[in-house]
Amino acid sequence: MRTLREINDLRSLLRDYRTHGQQIALVPTMGNLHAGHLALVAKAREHADIVVASLFVNPMQFGPNEDLDGYPRTFADDQAKLRAAGCDVLFSPSVSALYPNGLTSQTCVHVPDVGEGLCGGSRPGHFDGVSTVVTLLFNLVQPDVACFGEKDYQQLAVIRKCVHDLHMPIDIIGVPIVRADDGLALSSRNSYLSDAERAIAPTLYRTLCELRDALEQGEPLETILANGLIELAEAGFTPDYLELRTPELTPVSTTTRDAVLLAAARLGPARLIDNLSVQLP
Ligand code: PAJ
Repeated sequence: MRTLREINDLRSLLRDYRTHGQQIALVPTMGNLHAGHLALVAKAREHADIVVASLFVNPMQFGPNEDLDGYPRTFADDQAKLRAAGCDVLFSPSVSALYPNGLTSQTCVHVPDVGEGLCGGSRPGHFDGVSTVVTLLFNLVQPDVACFGEKDYQQLAVIRKCVHDLHMPIDIIGVPIVRADDGLALSSRNSYLSDAERAIAPTLYRTLCELRDALEQGEPLETILANGLIELAEAGFTPDYLELRTPELTPVSTTTRDAVLLAAARLGPARLIDNLSVQLP
């Protein structure tokens, strides 16, 4: 596996691959890699000859009071995991290489509608930071396909719309959520949890499963969501949102059958997100 820090080195290496007709897949990450990230690498491997992973803790997608400084940085471990997973290229640029003029004068990509509400509501500006850095990475790597996790369901929807609206010739592949044995969705931010909080954390998934079962049995949505918020609060979470949306993240109606139940909740120092698909009767 080649590890590259410089944009020019990345461009010249990828140019070589491309002239040999090789298909390129990109897996964007912020590092502190776990089995969820590695599932994306494995999926990318199925779709391309060359797998490029990027590792960049993107300051533009963190709010002023968020965890940019404390975000877990484990470069050597990440490099070893990617190598073992069969990744071909690790691209890990510096902040000044990606944003040479600083963040305040950086051209920004804003994806309307799908980025509003849910995490976009609780984290103003977050998805502008995500769509901007992902657009930069797409322009640098020019991948044929790119893999994103369904754990960050709204992020995946934002990227799909961005690629569609900007006519980028990239296949976006969604990869199912990888969970711990107790159901907790793997996340780099789980490392913020104390042992006691880690024991509570799977309640988020268990609550979503209960609510899904109740919805699939035709119980009324408003009552179910209200009960879900109470259950989460009683378990020790401070819920940010709990919502049922269509798979495209528009509001559900009486004719909706396929839906997604999405939640974000704070637990101690961590903000956890999760989602489940629901078949309405
Ligand atoms: P990060 O949180 O490092 O996640 C990188 C990718 O891994 C995302 O596509 C995310 O959805 C996926 N992922 C994380 N946990 C997962 C799990 N348990 N199961 C399946 N996939 C999982 O998301 C970001 O970084 C950033 O916003 C990024 C897209 C890299 C832009 O900076």
